Amino acid sequence: NKIIRTMKAVIPAAGFGTRFLPLTKAQPKEMLPIVNKPTIQWVVEEAIDAGITDIAIITSKHKQAIESHFRPMKGLESTLAKTGKLRELEKIKEINKSANFEFIIQDEPKGLGHAILCAEKFVGDSPFVVLLGDTICIGNPNCTRGLIDIYNLNGKSVFAVEKVELEDTKRYGIVSGKEFERDILKIEYLVEKPNPEEAPSRLAILGRYVFNPDFFEYQRNITEGIGGEIQLTDAMQELAQKDELYSWTFPGKRYDIGTMKDWFQAHIQLSSKSEFSELLDEVIDNL
Ligand code: G1P
Repeated sequence: NKIIRTMKAVIPAAGFGTRFLPLTKAQPKEMLPIVNKPTIQWVVEEAIDAGITDIAIITSKHKQAIESHFRPMKGLESTLAKTGKLRELEKIKEINKSANFEFIIQDEPKGLGHAILCAEKFVGDSPFVVLLGDTICIGNPNCTRGLIDIYNLNGKSVFAVEKVELEDTKRYGIVSGKEFERDILKIEYLVEKPNPEEAPSRLAILGRYVFNPDFFEYQRNITEGIGGEIQLTDAMQELAQKDELYSWTFPGKRYDIGTMKDWFQAHIQLSSKSEFSELLDEVIDNL
């Protein structure tokens, strides 16, 4: 499929992680471990599993660990080779064989919309996927793959949502629209972090998007919104008014690794599905 082959991915990972301090002061929240790899590696692997090979990670100067994690590390590789640790060597080299990485520094914390604008040159003239670097999605189909399949039906921008508790609407972009197909809405209204009494629904933007390249034109015209930040949701609202925008209720599980609850839960649930499941049972039995 032509569109899948040419789509690039943008992974914003430049935020301060203020909700999770002091844990995230020097340790980027995207590097918090889930089972045996950092959160952002789960995100990158979702993009790769969806057929994407060109990935830009938007990061900031104080989050060097993210870049170090994905860049080949020659000294480590030659030491592993010399000492015969070939399985470990294979493990760290695998990801660099599967995708090309570009690292773009967002030098000012001006918000998610501004972070996406930093990737305009990288994306160029084709549709692109955005995956938030602190959000893990588990499901079949994989969330990004599912969105690309929907995108391919009519070539319109589309993003994933999930139902949240009413008291949580103030943490997310919230959307409403008309049912187009089962689990798919044609979006009429989006608002970033509304209080429960102003929320148009309980459907929250979960952090996976496919946009056409003209999205950058909408984003460039957006000024500071809620929290004094340049919001992605505000550009999506413009797009929904002037073109067409769709949401898909993702039939899987999403973990927001900027909250303690989801971090614990992801770690335990994904451990129980991994090669470490027996070890996890043993640990729990011995609590
Ligand atoms: C961002 C988006 C928001 C979305 C959320 C998902 O908010 O602005 O629309 O619902 O991610 O996690 P943030 O978490 O960066 O405040």
